[in-house]
Amino acid sequence: MAKFIIEGGVPLKGTIRAAANKNAVLPIMAACLLTENECVLENVPKIGDVLVLGSIMKGLGVKVEGLGTETLRIKAGSIKSSRLEPSLVAKLRASILLMGPLLSRVGEARMRHPGGCLIGRRAVGTHFDALSALGAKIMVGEEDYEAEIKKPKGANIFLDEVSVTATENALLLAARIPGKTVIENAASEPHVQDLCQMLSKMGVKINGIGTNKLEVFGKKKLSGIRHRISSDNIEVGTLAIAAAVTGGRIKIQEAIREHLRMPLLYLNRMGVKTRFVGEDVLEVWPEKLVAPGRKVQTRPWPGFPTDLMSPLIVLGTQAKGATLFHDWMFESRMFFVDKLITMGADIILCDPHRVLVNGPTKLRGKNLVSPDIRAGIALLVAALCARGESQIEGAELIERGFEEVDSRFASLGAKIKREE
Ligand code: EPU
Repeated sequence: MAKFIIEGGVPLKGTIRAAANKNAVLPIMAACLLTENECVLENVPKIGDVLVLGSIMKGLGVKVEGLGTETLRIKAGSIKSSRLEPSLVAKLRASILLMGPLLSRVGEARMRHPGGCLIGRRAVGTHFDALSALGAKIMVGEEDYEAEIKKPKGANIFLDEVSVTATENALLLAARIPGKTVIENAASEPHVQDLCQMLSKMGVKINGIGTNKLEVFGKKKLSGIRHRISSDNIEVGTLAIAAAVTGGRIKIQEAIREHLRMPLLYLNRMGVKTRFVGEDVLEVWPEKLVAPGRKVQTRPWPGFPTDLMSPLIVLGTQAKGATLFHDWMFESRMFFVDKLITMGADIILCDPHRVLVNGPTKLRGKNLVSPDIRAGIALLVAALCARGESQIEGAELIERGFEEVDSRFASLGAKIKREE
């Protein structure tokens, strides 16, 4: 396991470009399976999850070129296998996104229960309901999920949860079903919108992009396309918090205004100053950090994103006053606060979903292990703000979702190095 070694207390300064959205590139890679023509993806983030999904796709006989670079060329001329490699599926929740495209192209798919971050129960029932509504038959075996589809048909789907990946899987299967599919109670996060834009370029007509009712008019033959992945609002929010807690001042390029309204509303409320310089450059610096004066609760888009909750808790430790943070989505996302407590934070874990943070507190460097992507980056942000040295083991876990963590933070002046 690799680790980051951080000497905290250095204010971040300078300019950094936000990387592209992990949760956009993964469904978009899966969508490339829907055509036998080549698709070119640009601005691909250099993160671990892309490598894992690319390897799973190669195992299906798909040509995937450029893994580890900014440009991916994917050609699913023919698909030779419909079984996802179990050891790779265990690493990536998003591997389930291949189910819709495989059903669409070869009429069957087989996989284990997907792995990924251990942040809660993470059921797949909503996916199966949506795929079944479109005509798939899903068998839950001892080890594998086996799905097949004989007669795909458009349907009216009402999801039982506003699930991001279930919405995406439904879109991916509906994309090649001629006729109309309606997905209601759909997720509409920026990454779901990005997938919709990509499918539209391929020839699928989609009404209601960005809302929770999507109307999909599928087309049997979809085109190969070139698509640029949009930037990651969670990364922008995380960088902004890192600048604020270190008392720094940074500019973040490729910050998309419409994707940042709720994160910036909370950051501004907590005394983090932000302004757009030009169309998409966000300048960030802290003034007097204060508790927001009301609880912070995660919600589906356009609410406060669950994936930014862990870094925001670190901001809470540096803000004057008490804040209740409530993430009702995941059962285990909050447990990492025990590590912040060892660093000196004053946090009460009320129950698995709620923590009460009292600030400000001085954080001290510690040796820690990263539990998941978002908690890992939150600990890294805490380490940047803490006095003394911290070591964070499990760097690979953080790198599943964040690009070139050590060199990019170092470019802002952070004292950080990576060791194997
Ligand atoms: N949930 C509800 N009710 C809802 C919506 C969600 O109970 O109305 C629960 C679900 O049961 C589940 C959890 O909330 O336990 C998350 O729901 P969802 O199905 O939307 O999660 P997902 O599709 O598996 C994606 C992202 C996650 C992100 C969530 C929520 C991808 C590949 N993953 O997961 O990203 O946290 O949506 O926005 O898109 C991450 O990037 O670190 C990550 C975990």
